[in-house]
Amino acid sequence: MTDQALVELAFSMLERSYVPYSHFPVGAALLCADGTVFTGCNVENAAYGSTICAERTALVKAVSEGRRDDFIRLAVVGNSADYCWPCGACRQMLYEFAPNLRVLAARGDGKFMAVSLSELLPYGFGPK
Ligand code: THU
Repeated sequence: MTDQALVELAFSMLERSYVPYSHFPVGAALLCADGTVFTGCNVENAAYGSTICAERTALVKAVSEGRRDDFIRLAVVGNSADYCWPCGACRQMLYEFAPNLRVLAARGDGKFMAVSLSELLPYGFGPK
């Protein structure tokens, strides 16, 4: 799957976001080595801290379906002027399973940047 196609899948998740508090929808798409994609959106809560981000939604969907060690690329998108980078909690959660993950961060106009998770979380704390 191309980077562009993965980013588009993440954009298609924006309409599923449940964001009555921030009004900031985020979409994610996590690609496995065999081509399987797990999508996610942010799901907010009246108790704000219980909110789950789009990337972690995608990740826990994948892990709960038995995937662990074949994540290769993640797209994360928002309707924002700047690139929608994963938050610190999401970086840490992703690092547990895929420290070498390639991350595509997109902004509202569809442009995206590609970086590695190790760039986003250098010297990360992981299972090793
Ligand atoms: N959000 C994500 O979904 N992913 C991130 O990495 C950053 C933040 C969501 C959480 C909340 O619903 C909204 O964006 C505003 O913080």
